[in-house]
Amino acid sequence: MNKNVVELLNAQVNKEFFSAYLYLGISKYFTKENLPGFASWYRVQAQEEQEHAMKIYDYLLDNDEDVRLSQIAQVDVNFDSALEAAKDADKHEHYITGEIVKIMDAAVEAKDYSTQLFLDWFITEQAEEERNSKDMIAKIEMVGCDKKSLYLLDKEVGSRKS
Ligand SMILES: [Fe+2]
Repeated sequence: MNKNVVELLNAQVNKEFFSAYLYLGISKYFTKENLPGFASWYRVQAQEEQEHAMKIYDYLLDNDEDVRLSQIAQVDVNFDSALEAAKDADKHEHYITGEIVKIMDAAVEAKDYSTQLFLDWFITEQAEEERNSKDMIAKIEMVGCDKKSLYLLDKEVGSRKS
């Protein structure tokens, strides 16, 4: 495989694990806020991110490339409000979409058609992630950030399954 594509995929393994870490941090925030539904939603999201990382991990190994398991950055796990946490997640998803697009650009440049096909799934997934995070912000903004409103929303949000 093209060296640059391999390098970018390796970096993305780390970014997906960081995403899992970020969502775990958000989940923890909601647990501390006594909102188990939100905590569960973000915990499911953290699991999904680990699966994304492992998809790339497997793809690299299947192609006889090496996987570098580099250090995962620390997450700032303190948020001022549910809305701030949801906005952080949304900002992060937009960043991740940009990173996936960069790998796609490199794969196109390298005429690496298998990686382009492989990345198609991630492009579709990112559109869904951005929609989900946008929906979450909209829901919180609709009810407001006071405890009583969030408590009522918590049950609905918690119904998400992995
Ligand atoms: Fe992801």
